Amino acid sequence: MSYVVTIDGPAGAGKSTVAKDVASTLGIKYLDTGAIYRAIALILFESEVKPVDDDIMRRALEKISIELRGKSVLVNGFDVSGEIRTPEVDELSSRYSAIPSVRQALLGLQKEQEKHGSIVAEGRDVGSVVFPDAKAKFFLTASPEARAQRRYRERITKGIPADYDEILQAIKERDINDSTRKTSPLTVPDGAIYLDTSDMTEEEAVKFITDKVKEVLSHETE
Ligand code: DC
Repeated sequence: MSYVVTIDGPAGAGKSTVAKDVASTLGIKYLDTGAIYRAIALILFESEVKPVDDDIMRRALEKISIELRGKSVLVNGFDVSGEIRTPEVDELSSRYSAIPSVRQALLGLQKEQEKHGSIVAEGRDVGSVVFPDAKAKFFLTASPEARAQRRYRERITKGIPADYDEILQAIKERDINDSTRKTSPLTVPDGAIYLDTSDMTEEEAVKFITDKVKEVLSHETE
């Protein structure tokens, strides 16, 4: 029996690391929906399509093909997995993902992933819009300061120059963008378990989620 676990939440809440570890602990696939939004934002920006919901946008979207191949994201056949992890694309994806026709264009691709077996899907609306019938749903969050601190440490560890105040400011702006947009604003999905990880380690968050999923699955087989 295949099943879907969803993990939604704001930028920098540690969703990616937690979702990846939950997927590997459960022995199922990890679906990074943010990567899909990043890829489409990058190609739209490079094609000089403005983040406006108009005919130009809709025509452009018809010509773009996004494909997930293993851990890679391909846009019109080109692997953009490396290019999408920059602060510029952080900001671009936040703007383009607010466009209803962009969200609509990516819905099918996300839903389809369920056909290939069990998944842990991570994003902003995976529990509310993409997989409303998921077996277990989680909303992972942390204070803006805790999230900024994590991003800061992540960048410094990777040798990328970073400024804590700038990161905190960017996080707060993205939170406002993601939660006030008209289409699929960031909300706690119906039936989701709310988990504040400000004072939790990643390992604790992973254990909490995997234990809950195992519990739900064990009730099903009783
Ligand atoms: O999780 P992330 O930082 O890689 O996401 C990049 C952007 O895409 C972020 O601004 C929110 C948006 N996004 C979204 O709107 N819906 C999703 N399911 C995933 C990401």
